[in-house]
Amino acid sequence: MDEMKRIREVSEFLRKALLSDASVAVILGSGLGGFADGLSDRRTVRFADIPHFPAPRVAGHVGSIVAGTFHGVSVMAIQGRFHLYEGYPLSDVVLLVRALHLLGVRTLILTNACGAVNPAFEPGDLMVLSDHLNLTGQNPLIGKNLDELGTRFPDASMVYDEALRALAKRIAVQEGITLREGVYAWWSGPSYETPAEIRMIRTLGADAVGMSTVPEALAASHMKMKVIGIACLTNMATGIRPGALTHDEVLDVAAKAGTRLSVLLSGILTKMTQ
Ligand code: HPA
Repeated sequence: MDEMKRIREVSEFLRKALLSDASVAVILGSGLGGFADGLSDRRTVRFADIPHFPAPRVAGHVGSIVAGTFHGVSVMAIQGRFHLYEGYPLSDVVLLVRALHLLGVRTLILTNACGAVNPAFEPGDLMVLSDHLNLTGQNPLIGKNLDELGTRFPDASMVYDEALRALAKRIAVQEGITLREGVYAWWSGPSYETPAEIRMIRTLGADAVGMSTVPEALAASHMKMKVIGIACLTNMATGIRPGALTHDEVLDVAAKAGTRLSVLLSGILTKMTQ
């Protein structure tokens, strides 16, 4: 099927189902879905009911879109996402971001749970992405360019919006929340990294490592959307401190950081200029 037709059909379905005029959307990462529960006038669509959508297969990823208002601001909150490691083509991973753009969303807030590579960071800290390293060798823009969405060779010098980052940092100071800033490395997963891989990733200049966010950021930036990435550092990456790493630990720390993330998201949504 023609990819633009597929994106249009998803967007038309969501237009009718959600009746939302939101210009901002938030993708909520592993264990971070709670923010959506605080929205008023909610309308929800489950991923499973959206045409052309694969069903997510990861614990901690609910798989739904909640449209509503937050202190008067229209927003769409997405609980769950698709990952490369699930075996989906990247066109599926970024399908929703593209459909949201057709619906009028111009600002994308991407959140995730990830590992801290910078030894000065602590599990439970939040980090705003200044930039990313794509270590997968893959890119959602590979293939026929969708000229209606953006140019063949998009600039990537400013994927993460500077003004939104500055706003997040101001809010964090006001609210007494520790907010780190750094480079996020995209790792395909599903295996967590080996100690040698983490040494390599640190040497390459990353502060955090995770298995999501970058494909959505690249697709959004192709469409000239404003993007902010906020990572919840759920653990120290492999080998930085002794001990093995489990997905349960990641979900547990993310849930505890969820309240602080919600405070940050609230501030961004109510104070940003749309
Ligand atoms: N590595 C990759 N992905 C992750 C990690 C990690 O340490 N923690 C949570 N997601």
